[in-house]
Amino acid sequence: MTQPVLELSGIRKSYGSHVAVENVDLSLDPEEFVTFLGPSGSGKTTTLMMVAGLQQPDGGSIRLGGAPIERQPPYRRDIGMVFQHYALFPHMSVRKNVAFPLEMRGVAAAEIARQVADALELVGLAEYGHRLPRQLSGGQQQRVALARAMVYRPALLLMDEPLGALDKKLREQMQREIKRVHRERRISVLYVTHDQEEALTMSDRIAVFNRGRIEQIGTPSELYERPATRFVADFLGDTNFFPGCVLGSSGGHCLVEVLGRRVEAMSPTPIADGSAIVVAVRPERVRLQRAGSQADGLTGRLAEVIYLGAARRCVVRLADGGDYFALQPAGDAEASGPQPGEEVSLSWDLRHATVFPL
Ligand SMILES: Nc1ncnc2c1ncn2[C@@H]1O[C@H](COP(=O)(O)OP(=O)(O)OP(=O)(O)O)[C@@H](O)[C@H]1O
Ligand SMILES: [Mg+2]
Repeated sequence: MTQPVLELSGIRKSYGSHVAVENVDLSLDPEEFVTFLGPSGSGKTTTLMMVAGLQQPDGGSIRLGGAPIERQPPYRRDIGMVFQHYALFPHMSVRKNVAFPLEMRGVAAAEIARQVADALELVGLAEYGHRLPRQLSGGQQQRVALARAMVYRPALLLMDEPLGALDKKLREQMQREIKRVHRERRISVLYVTHDQEEALTMSDRIAVFNRGRIEQIGTPSELYERPATRFVADFLGDTNFFPGCVLGSSGGHCLVEVLGRRVEAMSPTPIADGSAIVVAVRPERVRLQRAGSQADGLTGRLAEVIYLGAARRCVVRLADGGDYFALQPAGDAEASGPQPGEEVSLSWDLRHATVFPL
């Protein structure tokens, strides 16, 4: 077993009576890229600040490379940081900004020049060393912040919404840049974002935060395909929640009644017979057919078809008056599929349906 780069164990933090972070455990492997994803105020930044040493935890332990660091000041921790609002020193040149952490550490001048040149090369700004931050675009400033955070080759890089201030195109370009730097420098990264797509594309694992806790941690596909809680299913991607009631269960499966029909679904945790539940099914996993051909689906009326280019999003109104969604790839269904106003039935494979308590 390799030694984790970072281990958080039961860390917590309150501000007055408000619990910001409650009992967070996390283990980060060498070269791993882990993203914190969660709603505003769920404790992502507070957790990162405790790792950085900018906030003191009320309890729990933080280990970096196996050694406890709670009592070390931020500058003694082997950690680089990039924040949403890139705080470059405005009066210093790009080169000076990037050199700063090395100067703080008493590195010799010739070595500083070499490492700064290296770091600027890595982020594609070799020609910009003499400029002042205000003479750079937002994306370029963000790349300087990235170069400065990793110039001294920290064991761990923390990034708190580093791309939040950039437009979509620049964000995507910077996402690739960050992944390349992560690969080439073989650094471990803790990353915070609001953006699901960013989390799904960049991360080895994602930790979903909810009210100061990690609700679930896993690979992007684990979280998307097998969410452990309703919160995760709801927060990451689109999901239909069909209301129902448990009729019986065995071995991780449930038989449930949904709007008068019997359907099967997976149940990650055992649920008592008679419990009110929801069955979660992703829109792209919902099978939509003309009613009548098959009797075993939930029947309703196709209310609307929304054209999305690569797919069509079908809005189906069921007997409970609720709208549910099926996503169909372009091509298949355009001409031959059901049209708005028609009676349709919705069904799914057992393995794509998950039961959660109400
Ligand atoms: N210095 C502080 N004093 C008092 N309360 C704070 C302080 N910092 C954060 N909080 C509270 O702690 C909770 C967690 O805040 P945190 O900044 O960690 O959330 P977040 O997940 O980073 O949210 P966002 O996505 O909006 O950045 C919030 O309810 C916030 O109001
Ligand atoms: Mg935050």
